[in-house]
Amino acid sequence: MLALQLLFRASPAALLLVLCLQLGISSTQEDTISRKTLIVNMEMPKKARAGEEVTLKLKVQTELRECVVIKAYLKSNKSVDGPFTYKYTTCLCEDYPRTFYWDIQTNSTLQVAAVVDIIWEKNICPKDDAVIPIKGVRVAKISTLFIK
Ligand SMILES: *[C@@H]1O[C@H](CO)[C@@H](O)[C@H](O)[C@H]1NC(C)=O
Ligand SMILES: *[C@@H]1O[C@H](CO)[C@@H](O)[C@H](O)[C@H]1NC(C)=O
Repeated sequence: MLALQLLFRASPAALLLVLCLQLGISSTQEDTISRKTLIVNMEMPKKARAGEEVTLKLKVQTELRECVVIKAYLKSNKSVDGPFTYKYTTCLCEDYPRTFYWDIQTNSTLQVAAVVDIIWEKNICPKDDAVIPIKGVRVAKISTLFIK
């Protein structure tokens, strides 16, 4: 029974890992000629003390000529409240990278995924001049924050 519960608890994180693995594979197959839809860079300390506040920084850019509407949010293998749950929705255009910040406070080691989705939403980009590409509409970066 306990084993079953552990299995259930582990499954969302496991699914996320599988997802990222797939994304990883597809990104290595990308040909160099095509413009990258989303370039995502995540920075987060690897270690913290229990209850210490750390900042996760996420830089997102696109090489597409058209703008896209993006949503950026965090997921973790343990529920965390506060600023962690904040979802950013914004317009992303070529040559204008966006940077998002989240303050994270936790008492136990946390696996964090920063996810960026290209979404369909009105009134985000000026005059709604935005596109939805067929591929590369989601990028996730995973890191672990170790608590000592
Ligand atoms: C985390 O640590 C803080 C400070 O020690 C404490 O007040 C809080 O109850 C703890 N939270 C959990 C979920 O253990
Ligand atoms: C979350 O993942 C970390 C790193 O894999 C692990 O140490 C921690 O125990 C996990 N927490 C939960 C609640 O599953």
